[in-house]
Amino acid sequence: MPVTAVVNQKGGVGKTTVVLGLAAASAARGRSVLVVDMDPQANATTGLGVFDPAVTVDQVLGRDEPGALRDAVQSSGWPALGGRVDLVPSAPSLAQRELQLATDVIGAQDRLAVAMSGLTGYDDVFIDCPPSLGLLTVNALFAADRVVVVAEPAAWSVDGVEQILRNTRRIAERRGGRPEIAGIVVNRVGRTRDASYWYLELRDAYPDLVLQPPVRLRAAVAEASAGSQPVHALTRGGATEAAEQFDRLSRQLDPASGGGSAAGGAPHRADPAQGRDVHPDDHVDRGALAVPAMTSAPWER
Ligand SMILES: Nc1ncnc2c1ncn2[C@@H]1O[C@H](COP(=O)(O)OP(=O)(O)OP(=O)(O)O)[C@@H](O)[C@H]1O
Ligand SMILES: [Mg+2]
Repeated sequence: MPVTAVVNQKGGVGKTTVVLGLAAASAARGRSVLVVDMDPQANATTGLGVFDPAVTVDQVLGRDEPGALRDAVQSSGWPALGGRVDLVPSAPSLAQRELQLATDVIGAQDRLAVAMSGLTGYDDVFIDCPPSLGLLTVNALFAADRVVVVAEPAAWSVDGVEQILRNTRRIAERRGGRPEIAGIVVNRVGRTRDASYWYLELRDAYPDLVLQPPVRLRAAVAEASAGSQPVHALTRGGATEAAEQFDRLSRQLDPASGGGSAAGGAPHRADPAQGRDVHPDDHVDRGALAVPAMTSAPWER
């Protein structure tokens, strides 16, 4: 039961989208999935079709008891995909809990890990993190076996990824090597030279960590979250492509399917041929991109 924290301190890069996409892909393969929403914005909660939950992760963290998470688990509102997706919902009150955690000299960092102890019955657990490196994200990193970093193909992305990798390694040093860094999902990759340029920058900086394929910028992906539906359940243009991308990422993150994580075992080297397959702009000449073109296709506006 790998517990995967999906992180980046930058807002809006697609952490929640990747959590939902990977959860859907995993369920579509018949697996039982639990999503733990650690973001006070509660986007994963509403994305999974849960509104005004009675019990949330906020109360769980407040109790500070081993196994407390179990009492907050509920079914998601998603249609059946083969496997089931359950949820530990979040609420805005979690923001206050973070302030309170900061005053607890003993349990500030590992309350979520304590609450998750003894958890069984799931093939995958995904933790959606808030856009910060604060105590909620730190709690997720203390509870996780591995980390998936989500990055956008944009200026400063490499700097942001470096920061979260550094923090993850610092925690891993204190936890006997956990969490491992499973890889970097590059999300919102539009069909522009600008996106290609920054995508290649990320791939050059982390050739062993950037996972294939990148997730394309597609209106269907945003529509799925906004409509509280798994992208796998949508039939409109773009949804099938996105579902396929999440399926491939999901298989790659599943050691049983021969995928394995980038940081564990043999490093996964981004395959240029594969990259070209999913990323037609890959061949662009970097020199020609000194002034990035800002044209965008209609689906990106
Ligand atoms: N591949 C994609 N194609 C189109 N839209 C996307 C894609 N990925 C994310 N989005 C949209 O971009 C917005 C931000 O995505 P998301 O909420 O997943 O980011 P986040 O990193 O979780 O944000 P936050 O840091 O606020 O939690 C959402 O409206 C989402 O629907
Ligand atoms: Mg989010």
